[in-house]
Amino acid sequence: MKKVLVIDDEEKVCWALEQFLKDEGYKPIIANNAEEGLRKVETEQPNIVILDVRLPGMDGLEALKKIKSLNPSIHVIIITAFDFFETTIKAMQLDAFDFVAKPPDLDEIKEIIDRAIKAQELSKALSPPEIEPAEKYQLDKLVGKSGQMQEIYKLIGAITTNNVTVLIEGENGTGKELVAKAIHYNSPRKDKPFVPINCGALPDSLLESELFGYEKGAFTGADGPKKGRFELADGGTLFLDEVSTMSSALQVKLLRVLEEQEFEPLGGTETVKVDVRIIAATNENLESLVQSGAFREDLYYRLKVISFNLPPLRERPADIPLLVNHFLAAANIELGRQLKGLDSKAMELLLKYDWPGNVRQLENAIKVAAVLSRSDVILLEHLPPEIIAGPRKAEREASALESALENILKAKVKQAINQDSNNLYDDILSMVDKSLVNLVLQELNDNQVKAARLLGISRTTLREKIKKL
Ligand SMILES: Nc1ncnc2c1ncn2[C@@H]1O[C@H](COP(=O)(O)OP(=O)(O)OP(=O)(O)O)[C@@H](O)[C@H]1O
Ligand SMILES: [Mg+2]
Repeated sequence: MKKVLVIDDEEKVCWALEQFLKDEGYKPIIANNAEEGLRKVETEQPNIVILDVRLPGMDGLEALKKIKSLNPSIHVIIITAFDFFETTIKAMQLDAFDFVAKPPDLDEIKEIIDRAIKAQELSKALSPPEIEPAEKYQLDKLVGKSGQMQEIYKLIGAITTNNVTVLIEGENGTGKELVAKAIHYNSPRKDKPFVPINCGALPDSLLESELFGYEKGAFTGADGPKKGRFELADGGTLFLDEVSTMSSALQVKLLRVLEEQEFEPLGGTETVKVDVRIIAATNENLESLVQSGAFREDLYYRLKVISFNLPPLRERPADIPLLVNHFLAAANIELGRQLKGLDSKAMELLLKYDWPGNVRQLENAIKVAAVLSRSDVILLEHLPPEIIAGPRKAEREASALESALENILKAKVKQAINQDSNNLYDDILSMVDKSLVNLVLQELNDNQVKAARLLGISRTTLREKIKKL
């Protein structure tokens, strides 16, 4: 039986909680002050503590700190009546599990206790830690063992020893920049700079001067020379992000640099020679932009010597558990936590979700959940609401269909009850029969051969049905 220790100086509250906990199948232990409570934490080893903040003698926050240092796996639920704001912040910092206002609502307490016990059991089941230890975690590591990702690793490996231009295509958040860095940092250029520039973030004139640099007096405000990113990346790699947004004038200029590895800074006469590897990225379909005339075909082929197509996360669910562990390890470092893992229901949901924001969205979801989780495990309710609400689109559509059908049937059942019917079953089947046969014939232009095949019935049966209708 799980033990719940109540520490409160109000007899009435203690009594009510004691009865309630007994009824719910827990073993209640009562203490009327913090000192007595701490003794009982040691002697009784409770699973959960319900702790009042205002206590005679040692106050609740002090007691919370002591309980957590005696046994960090005990979850402490705080009852607050005053200074809600300040107490809550302090108690959160001291790792309280959750809060209830005074007088405590029993249903709410029950829900919190259940959640705390679930977290505790999961935490036990998950030890030893499932996730990578901090010292093994590498920020820029590409994670994933799906077939699609293995192909990407192979391709990265194959091109790091040469200098071919690379185009990386993929939806938002699929890891384009990470792949670009992986190419650079695994190549002989790794000790030279990796210089990223987001072409979509700058207006045309600014982008031009950022890329190629300028001489003193090239334009008003150019009071000294400035090196462009091409020059800064000399010997290394230039990462042209969102390359599809470049104006056609700049596309021409870029093409020339790619072909000749040289250019003139704005307002300059001298040619600058550079040795730069270009990696471009886009989340648009560059090929269709070429077809519509928005992107130069010659530049497209010049960029796309080698191309990567990063698969969306929903097409490689096998990578999700690995990525989750990877991001949990990151959260442990960043937030100073000891998160062990994820509840299986939460994981199930992550596997079903369709991830429009791909790996970045997953990364953020885990970060949020890590902050919201008050124990060392992440439960379903810690995930962002859009993930809890939305599984895959196909499933949403199927369930919309199901609920529409359910509504129709409900109306029919009510009608049948009112009319005291005794053949509801046949009624409904013949209703479905009629509508289905009619619809199929309509869709197939009254072609009975095709209709019979689609319905999976013989033509004789179909003809009989039509006659009956
Ligand atoms: N395979 C992966 N393994 C580990 N982390 C990844 C992986 N793919 C992406 N990430 C992480 O997800 C986040 C988004 O990745 P990145 O910035 O490379 O995506 P992107 O394709 O450039 O996105 P956008 O199109 O929005 O610019 C980053 O924090 C990155 O570290
Ligand atoms: Mg990016």
